[in-house]
Amino acid sequence: MTTQDLRLTIAAELERTRARTALLTEAVDDDDLTRQHSPLMSPLVWDLAHVGNQEELWLVRDVGGRDPVRHDIDELYDAFKHSRRDRTALPLLNPAEARAYVGQVRDKVFDVLDRVRFDSAQRLVDGGFAFGMILQHEQQHDETMLATHQLRAGSPVLTAPSPPAATAVPAGEILIRAGTFTMGTDTEPWALDNERSAHLVDVPAFWIDAAPVTNGDYLAFIDAGGYDESRWWSERGWAHRQSAGLEAPMHWLRDHDGWHYRRFGRVEPVNPAEPVVHVCYFEAEAYAAWAGKRLPTEAEWEKAARWDPATGRSRRFPWGDDPPGPQHANLGQRHLSPAPVGAYPDGASPSGVHQLIGDVWEWVSSGFEPYPGFAAFPYQEYSEVFFGGDYKMLRGGSFGTDTTAVRSTFRNWDHPIRRQIFSGFRCARDAS
Ligand SMILES: [Fe+2]
Repeated sequence: MTTQDLRLTIAAELERTRARTALLTEAVDDDDLTRQHSPLMSPLVWDLAHVGNQEELWLVRDVGGRDPVRHDIDELYDAFKHSRRDRTALPLLNPAEARAYVGQVRDKVFDVLDRVRFDSAQRLVDGGFAFGMILQHEQQHDETMLATHQLRAGSPVLTAPSPPAATAVPAGEILIRAGTFTMGTDTEPWALDNERSAHLVDVPAFWIDAAPVTNGDYLAFIDAGGYDESRWWSERGWAHRQSAGLEAPMHWLRDHDGWHYRRFGRVEPVNPAEPVVHVCYFEAEAYAAWAGKRLPTEAEWEKAARWDPATGRSRRFPWGDDPPGPQHANLGQRHLSPAPVGAYPDGASPSGVHQLIGDVWEWVSSGFEPYPGFAAFPYQEYSEVFFGGDYKMLRGGSFGTDTTAVRSTFRNWDHPIRRQIFSGFRCARDAS
């Protein structure tokens, strides 16, 4: 790509992403923007100004070498300094100030973008990396803000067309044969430090579900008393199930005529064909045990998603190297729910595994560890400080994840009790 093409691509991505941020923050009134909808989440107005502040720190000051737009608010919007629970009490920019601020920052960023040379000797800008990192940061906050919308009480404010119907029902399980595959990447220009380096991993043969676990599958677990029997749960999982009073996925309601869920302010009957969403790691683990299976490891998930048995090569995405299109995966908040399994046959992996990208983040059994050759970049707080912590990995993105913020190598992590995120899972088992 020429320098000018890269500039145009980045500019288009910045504008596309900001349009989504604007939609999510303009859909509600100022009172709603500044209110805390859940102690798990920031007020939306914090996310908005934080997105602008990170953009200012990295692109205006670091890459551009410009004077600060606001030198007095960095501390307020430093995610490491204040927990989400405490952010409402801070002297935050009000909605009008926050909008003006992110606009001023963006004007300067376009000026920086016009002049930047994507110098391959400067790793921060090589291939547009710093711009890609900041874009993905805003896109990740757009998903976080969507989760806040899901937690918000009140009448619906977001609308989207329904996802496509199923056209091909995936087979039950797929055998992935034993052998090495390339995990991680050295070539993806906007990959983050934790996705690097590319390395060979030898994976024993395993079976993996051809599709994520559906609401229908999960209802069978509930109906079989899965939440009442400690034998399906890990010790920690059972303790959490007891103390948190878990009985069904988050946002599910039992009514006289069966299960419903609340989605962005609308109450609808649970669709048995859709992947289950809003379950924590412990629920996923218990379901898998009840089903006589287990969760895949991170390496198994990535091999199922990328490895082409015909060539031995690892692809960028299950369907190939092309960026995600609407025919491949349910991404980008194009729809406001997971799609039924079998809705994306064009997005299946070479092994025939469906819907690995999009719909729901998939819990896997691995914790967050660095790959061989890991080097923190551009700062330790991006990934390194989280290694070895109380986290489980999530793979593949959800309907709320931007198309630019996910790929088969992308690694997300969260605490195993979390379920306000768009999290589901699929199962695996040993082949031997
Ligand atoms: Fe952030």
